[in-house]
Amino acid sequence: MVNLRVMCCILNVIVLTTGMHHYYWRDYAGVLPLDGISFRGIYIAQIPYYYSMLPAAFDPDKEEAVTEAFGARRIIKDGIKILCDLNSENLYWEYTTTDKLTKDKLSNLVVGGLESNSTLYIGKAFYDGEWKIGKVFPTDSEYKGFKTWNNTDGSFRSLDDFQVLKYKEHPITPRC
Ligand SMILES: *[C@@H]1O[C@H](CO)[C@@H](O)[C@H](O)[C@H]1NC(C)=O
Ligand SMILES: *[C@@H]1O[C@H](CO)[C@@H](O)[C@H](O)[C@H]1NC(C)=O
Repeated sequence: MVNLRVMCCILNVIVLTTGMHHYYWRDYAGVLPLDGISFRGIYIAQIPYYYSMLPAAFDPDKEEAVTEAFGARRIIKDGIKILCDLNSENLYWEYTTTDKLTKDKLSNLVVGGLESNSTLYIGKAFYDGEWKIGKVFPTDSEYKGFKTWNNTDGSFRSLDDFQVLKYKEHPITPRC
């Protein structure tokens, strides 16, 4: 009994300090998931790109995802996953800058992928006449910042002022 209590406390402490998220990714197979997370009709997506997994913006009308990779806009139609959460209010955008995403500030950012050895987060910014959603490298990466592109020629741009997607933590109430 005592041991169970101790275990319970240890588990609670672990959960309370790490927090929990409820989001998940669903494969896109031609039908938009009801629990998909979107912003102004654009869904937050994840796509495989060479050896990376990249956050992207999925346009349901065009049935394609767009993101920046290797210095240019990339349009992808296969292997798309959509970010989902049963309660969209679990997720929110927060204004930030490139230098604020230090290691100690990353705990409740939504993880959007992995590239060049760096965890990628999900950013949003109004650029070149439209809202862009895409990848964010944390401050300790040599590529730090929000990566987007020019609409006319697709060339790559790195922005320092943007919003980042975060989740509300759902700690389990301690019972011991
Ligand atoms: C990736 O990270 C590991 C461990 O930090 C390091 O040994 C390796 O050189 C890195 N690779 C690249 C391509 O940066
Ligand atoms: C995008 O590129 C076009 C053509 O190169 C240029 O005229 C335009 O100013 C660029 N837009 C931004 C926001 O830099």
